[in-house]
Amino acid sequence: MPRSTWSPCHDSIRIAPSLLAADFGRLADAVHGLEGSGAERLHIDVMDGVFVPNYTFGVDTVRVLRRETTLPLELHLMIVEPERHLETFAAAGADGITVHYEASPHLHRTLTTIRALDCRSGAAINPSTPAIALTDVLEICDLALVMTIDPGFGGQKLIEHTLLKVAQVRREIERQSLLTEVEVDGGVEAHNARACADAGADVLVAGTAVFGHVAGPVEGVRSLRAAIDV
Ligand code: DX5
Ligand code: ZN
Repeated sequence: MPRSTWSPCHDSIRIAPSLLAADFGRLADAVHGLEGSGAERLHIDVMDGVFVPNYTFGVDTVRVLRRETTLPLELHLMIVEPERHLETFAAAGADGITVHYEASPHLHRTLTTIRALDCRSGAAINPSTPAIALTDVLEICDLALVMTIDPGFGGQKLIEHTLLKVAQVRREIERQSLLTEVEVDGGVEAHNARACADAGADVLVAGTAVFGHVAGPVEGVRSLRAAIDV
């Protein structure tokens, strides 16, 4: 069983810009602009209009992004029956695939399949889902995603109580001596980034805070980093 190396060391916190907040007409420019910014991976929100009331990127977009950047592509699938599309997304160039607990009745099998496709496996829970839902799959998760908003749209306000779940998931990972990353997604901004890290997150997804930053995305990433490092 691998030992956890996690400690509340803010230097190791990773920033994952979410392309949902980028200009969809200039996605290639958006990803080029992030290289060298300190962003550690790209977060790509895939929505199907069923699991969440919105549509975003599909397989072809992932394929194009793979061609445009060497940054790791982390897919956040907000779709029903994600198990039907894993192979296609992996072949398109995904480095990691995160599925929702609420959309995947056979989550153990789904996560095992993701790993078998040579992708990093991720399991996500909505704000209304208790942290305990992840307990029995953490061992096969490279990433545990605690949604800090109700999924579907960017630009929402972080729901405070979800940070308690971040701490619960973190404690469970420690209890099981795992290396699973804890990621938060939704409403992450400079003023709450430190609280997310203190709660136990080691990956912060940020859309609006990066692409909506008045001084541009590079400055958006930098200001999140600065907020964590205070
Ligand atoms: C929403 C997505 C998020 C979204 C976050 O369902 O999962 O990744 O892009 O956007 P912000 O950072 O604007 O809340
Ligand atoms: Zn997301």
